[in-house]
Amino acid sequence: MKHDRQMALLDRMLELRRRREYRLSDAIFPLPVDAYTSQEIFERELETLFSGSPLVAGHVDGVREPGSYMLNDWPRQPYFVVRGKDGVLRAFLNTCRHRGAPLIVKEKDEPLRALVCPFHGWVYGLDGALQGIPGSSAFPGIDKRDYGLKECSVAESTGLVWVHPTRGESFDPAPDLGAFAEDFAEFHLERFVSYKRVVTEKKANWKLLMQMNLEGYHVAQLHKGTFAPNFRDGFLSHDAEGPHLCVLAAQTNLPDAENVPKKQRKLIDFISLFYVLFPNTIVIVRHDTILIGRFLPLAPDRTLCSQEMLYLPDKFVGESGQKALRNRLLYAQVTLDDEDYKMAERVQANLLNGVNETHMLGLEEGLLTLFQETVSKRLAARDAATADSP
Ligand code: FES
Ligand SMILES: [Fe+2]
Repeated sequence: MKHDRQMALLDRMLELRRRREYRLSDAIFPLPVDAYTSQEIFERELETLFSGSPLVAGHVDGVREPGSYMLNDWPRQPYFVVRGKDGVLRAFLNTCRHRGAPLIVKEKDEPLRALVCPFHGWVYGLDGALQGIPGSSAFPGIDKRDYGLKECSVAESTGLVWVHPTRGESFDPAPDLGAFAEDFAEFHLERFVSYKRVVTEKKANWKLLMQMNLEGYHVAQLHKGTFAPNFRDGFLSHDAEGPHLCVLAAQTNLPDAENVPKKQRKLIDFISLFYVLFPNTIVIVRHDTILIGRFLPLAPDRTLCSQEMLYLPDKFVGESGQKALRNRLLYAQVTLDDEDYKMAERVQANLLNGVNETHMLGLEEGLLTLFQETVSKRLAARDAATADSP
């Protein structure tokens, strides 16, 4: 992030603290809980938010070298992204064109040279072309050119890989990200390397999980045993670029920023910074690590949660560096999995008792209101477009 922008954001946060102006919305908002339980809403969300727009597939570190690949093991849209021998990044649906077996079942460390279906051995090149059929004389009249892998569109931008589920849909995520794309470029997101990616299933709606990252109101209570002391009198502010958000969380030491000469001030010394890439990705930016969380809906009350920690290798050297990384990951797991996402699961389970028809969002939970409104507006726009079409 450019220094001028960092200083402008820091000044804004200092001013908000001076004025004790912590509201993120103008009015409380009753959020109907069927947003978390309704199968019908869930299907419309998938169709509108997940099938029709580009989504973050992961960090580019997973696909730097020819033959390297990343698997999106999401039953709703199983695809993999692979770097070809020609250096081109491509994404394919993970489905063999013979009888539909998944070509990649599990990510492995070795690069791919070709894709060999584990069922009957059809062979595909890294460009998706069908190259070989064992016992091909048993398939008279088949033209291999008709049986290449089904391709999705893919784009690399500022360290992130995005996939558009629609074939042939060329896209560039950078313009939609606006200033955030410049932030990522300034942070050199592409220089980070992967430490570990963990995929787990959570028993909660995808929005409930996302929303754990969108309010600081819970920090003092839910995180009192971990990082709450770092956010005493904490509050949030945000910038929006279309549906995407940059969220700033004031740390306890924010007032100290005024004692540091402006030229030496750094935003992330005093502010926790993260980006919400609509609809389902969170990028948490620290000095020397980033955490990318993706939430892939399985059912109204089940979500695949992928969390990847990446780091700058020159900041974590030798055994002590590895130990520090292990501790960082452990800390992230404790605060996110054991505190945030566990609470989301408990809230989801409690929805069954029907006590609350709505969840009342307060003024400091305004980003949840904003997020839900963005979702609702997109569903309504899609419904209107469908109704208008002949
Ligand atoms: S399903 Fe892949 S070769 Fe038969
Ligand atoms: Fe939290």
